[in-house]
Amino acid sequence: MGFSTDAIHVGQEPDPSTGSIVAPIYQTSTYVQPALGENKGYDYARTNHPNRKALERTIAKLEGGTAAYVFTSGMAAIDCVFRLLRPGDHTILSRAVYGGVYRLSTQFLVQLGLEFSFTDTSCLETIQRDLRPNTKMIYVETPTNPTMIVTDIAAVAKLAREKNITLVVDNTFMSPYLQLPLSHGAHIVVHSMTKYLNGHSDCVGGAVILSRKEDAEKIYFLQRSAGAGLAPMDCFLVSRGIKTLAVRMERHDANGMAVAKHLEGHAKVKHVIYPGLAAHPQHAVAKKQQRGFGAMLSFDVGSLEAARSVLNNVKICSLAESLGGVETLISLPALMTHASMPKDVREQIGITDGLIRLSVGIEDVEDIIADLDYALAKI
Ligand SMILES: Cc1ncc(COP(=O)(O)O)c(C=O)c1O
Repeated sequence: MGFSTDAIHVGQEPDPSTGSIVAPIYQTSTYVQPALGENKGYDYARTNHPNRKALERTIAKLEGGTAAYVFTSGMAAIDCVFRLLRPGDHTILSRAVYGGVYRLSTQFLVQLGLEFSFTDTSCLETIQRDLRPNTKMIYVETPTNPTMIVTDIAAVAKLAREKNITLVVDNTFMSPYLQLPLSHGAHIVVHSMTKYLNGHSDCVGGAVILSRKEDAEKIYFLQRSAGAGLAPMDCFLVSRGIKTLAVRMERHDANGMAVAKHLEGHAKVKHVIYPGLAAHPQHAVAKKQQRGFGAMLSFDVGSLEAARSVLNNVKICSLAESLGGVETLISLPALMTHASMPKDVREQIGITDGLIRLSVGIEDVEDIIADLDYALAKI
């Protein structure tokens, strides 16, 4: 079946007991057992529940995984993946990962004896240079948040497989509609479902999708033991959001390209970072491994003062953390999503004080552009 058909039907079957075309929300903590030692597939909602199982089936299908598990947030999902490691194991991460991943790894997981180093994963030679005898995982965000650096997943997967290293890809910015990391050889995919998968900015959630059965068994053990599985109502919201993922992504993609092209020629903009532009350093890689270029872009207006002026004058674009919703969101990574990164680290990787991140929504694109033009004119 095609992507949209799977998104609408896999895990989204009508309720067998009533025929309801939308599965009910199983808002219950426990399940009555007909006799000791017997149940109808569920016993306790931390372990599992029908809404979670349904959503996990949908996501596993869309990403092409053998299994998927959904969590209370993207960070809970990512944390669970790092728990596959043992003290003394080393992980290479993309240099400009999401600030929360930077914080979790450098401020907490190191205390458990895990080692992390940050590398420009768009360059295979630098990954090779930074490999250690104890490297067990390569964690790639592509494109990165908010610097939009693209990593060649197939090339890194080949290296990882040669060295028996697990390759994890954060596919949040693309969604499975625009990019399928497992098909390029990655072993594990993670998502902040808070973003495009849900798509409506009304719930927080995360997902881990596995290609190997042995990883899947460990992740499920951790999910049910540590208890960070997603609750029924939130699963329902993401399942509903996924039904329109394909059409939303088509529109996001078209709007993203139109806004990027417009800003590229704008007198008040120093530069635009969008993998869909021919000037982007990894444009060819993005074109090869993605179905489209998406709706995330960053642009530099030169200074914090100029950025502040833009952020305070937009009216359609909402000044907010997060991304991937139907509404256009605008933010300043240096003071918002990446504030937990030291300033020198931020500057080394290109997160300047004047770098504005835009999550282009699916409003009429002329309105988004007019709003940005108005705010840019105020600089
Ligand atoms: C690329 C990326 N990965 C992971 C996360 C973490 O997800 P959550 O906020 O759902 O915990 C975010 C959050 O913004 C993100 O942008």
